[in-house]
Amino acid sequence: MLMVTNSKTPEMLEKMRAASTIVSGVLEMIGEHVQPGVSTARLDQLCHDYIVDHGGVPSCVGYQGYQHATCISVNHVVCHGVPGDKRLKDGDSLNIDVVAAVDGMHGDSSAMYFAGTPSIAAGRLARVTQESLYLGILEIKPGATLGDVGAAIHAHAQQHGYSVVLDFCGHGIGAEMHEEPQVCHVGRRGQGVRLMPGMTFTIEPMLNAGRSEVRVLADKWTVVTKDHSLSAQWEHTLLVTNTGFEILTWRPSESAAWDALRGKRAVAPAS
Ligand code: MF3
Ligand code: CO
Repeated sequence: MLMVTNSKTPEMLEKMRAASTIVSGVLEMIGEHVQPGVSTARLDQLCHDYIVDHGGVPSCVGYQGYQHATCISVNHVVCHGVPGDKRLKDGDSLNIDVVAAVDGMHGDSSAMYFAGTPSIAAGRLARVTQESLYLGILEIKPGATLGDVGAAIHAHAQQHGYSVVLDFCGHGIGAEMHEEPQVCHVGRRGQGVRLMPGMTFTIEPMLNAGRSEVRVLADKWTVVTKDHSLSAQWEHTLLVTNTGFEILTWRPSESAAWDALRGKRAVAPAS
């Protein structure tokens, strides 16, 4: 059994809660701005300004030379899409990924949006990917393992005919944006790092409509599906509590999706 400590003090957790509240506020704020014709650079600017106006620091700016507050990944872009002058078209689906810090402690979350009306296929992929995040989160409690989390995510993706991206994972988070442990979105039940109260990490599954293989573009950031199939991602920052979990980056607008998944799961348990 792998032992990873990663536990946070109450003081560190308060700062992570503050950072995570800013991140969830960004993701709530930006929805109405996602429209056909808007550039991803404009969306990034709005997110950047919100973080700064609310007393946060945009963690991605300067991270390994990255220049932007967000990653914006459109259609077949899996993750780490770089905001730019390209304008959204009707039907585009996109992930907006935001990391902010307060007093040196980080929060990290991402969500899917649509410019105009999505195709049935894009809507379904985004919904199933969000469900897979939720099913992973529902595994979290002291004594469970990261293998349980990955197994739940993978099973749900497979049930719907989607592949799980293996090359990018969730991660511990706190005083660094990326800490131990690595949080893979596949796994074997009972295996991997055992969860303990006070641990904080992200879960951020990327599901592809086609094959799981990805490729990094010449800009060294943008990750795309090798087969150009559609990809979706959702991410939260989680805390392991004494009895289960706390979603530090929870958004009030998620309630309906969360309740729907909980309802379905009560009828037919996943996996
Ligand atoms: N939010 C991304 C993650 O989940 C980090 C993007 S890398 C950065 O790991 F350079 F943009 F910060
Ligand atoms: Co992350």
